[in-house]
Amino acid sequence: MAPMEDVTDVAFREAFAKFSVPGEDFIFFTEFTSADGLLKADKIGYRKVASRLLFSSSQRPVVAQIFSASPENIYKAIKKEIIPRGFDGVDINMGCPDKTIIKQKTGAYLMQVPEIAKEMVLKAKEASGGKLPISVKTRVGFNNVDVNWIREILSVKPDALTVHLRTKKELSLVDAHWDLMPEILKIRDEISPNTKIIGNGDIKNLKEAREKLQKYNCDGVMIGRGLFGNPSFFKYETDQRDSAEKIKQLIFHLEKFGEFLEKDNLKPYHVMKKHFKAYINGFSGAKNLREKLMQTTNTQKAIDILKNMLDY
Ligand SMILES: Cc1cc2nc3c(=O)[nH]c(=O)nc-3n(C[C@H](O)[C@H](O)[C@H](O)COP(=O)(O)O)c2cc1C
Repeated sequence: MAPMEDVTDVAFREAFAKFSVPGEDFIFFTEFTSADGLLKADKIGYRKVASRLLFSSSQRPVVAQIFSASPENIYKAIKKEIIPRGFDGVDINMGCPDKTIIKQKTGAYLMQVPEIAKEMVLKAKEASGGKLPISVKTRVGFNNVDVNWIREILSVKPDALTVHLRTKKELSLVDAHWDLMPEILKIRDEISPNTKIIGNGDIKNLKEAREKLQKYNCDGVMIGRGLFGNPSFFKYETDQRDSAEKIKQLIFHLEKFGEFLEKDNLKPYHVMKKHFKAYINGFSGAKNLREKLMQTTNTQKAIDILKNMLDY
């Protein structure tokens, strides 16, 4: 599961735990979470930042993705927040292309300052003291494909490296460059043979995920947008759900959003609305139903509408 802001929250992950019944080769990721926010936010701000790190016992193994411009803050956040919460791993974001993140000299910006990026991994390792695997998620370059960056980051031997096979400049606008995977694996074999390489980009279903693994022989694949609205992604080779199954899954997702996030005002309800289009499509009446759902103001109202649909 790719880390995705305002998507892979505790409610979304709970739906995957229920409907995909993932095996032990499956890894949950949190949304990216500001290490600085965890350390410095005021009481209200802290509750919101920390809500990104909520998880339930069925969401295992679970990796916390954090970001910062400061290796020291990564160290402190791991010690103070990630280890005590019982995470199974820590991932450092070095790929986010968002302007506000780049301005803060973090995310994909770190590709331009490899010395700081490397220090960050070393500080994370020091903080974990060998207790937790330390991974990095990055891209194949900032403005251009830059395998030298991959060399640099592998030189500090992260336990795993996820490579989103596009540059920062490309955002998600072009096809992922899977053709770069053999070269990345070759560099890994040379520089850090124990680092697991996870390929990321454009995988649409489980069948394709298996094909990529077989074709490129990387250690894992990570899936982002392909998971939208499909918590049984890892159950079926390709999506076979009928409308009733989709609606039941959305009801569950809404219930969990209500329980974990809406109840305590940790996330606003509109975050949930972005999922409606992904679940409610491909059957007759979908558009009308979506429109009704978009007008709701809380999870219970949406659940009532959906339950009503199931009764017909
Ligand atoms: C809505 C959204 C939010 C994202 N948030 C994050 C994030 O918090 N951390 C991160 O490393 N990548 C984030 N990404 C990037 C994804 O993890 C992934 O690398 C990207 O979507 C490419 O994979 P895909 O083609 O399978 O979607 C986000 C992507 C999307 C679409």
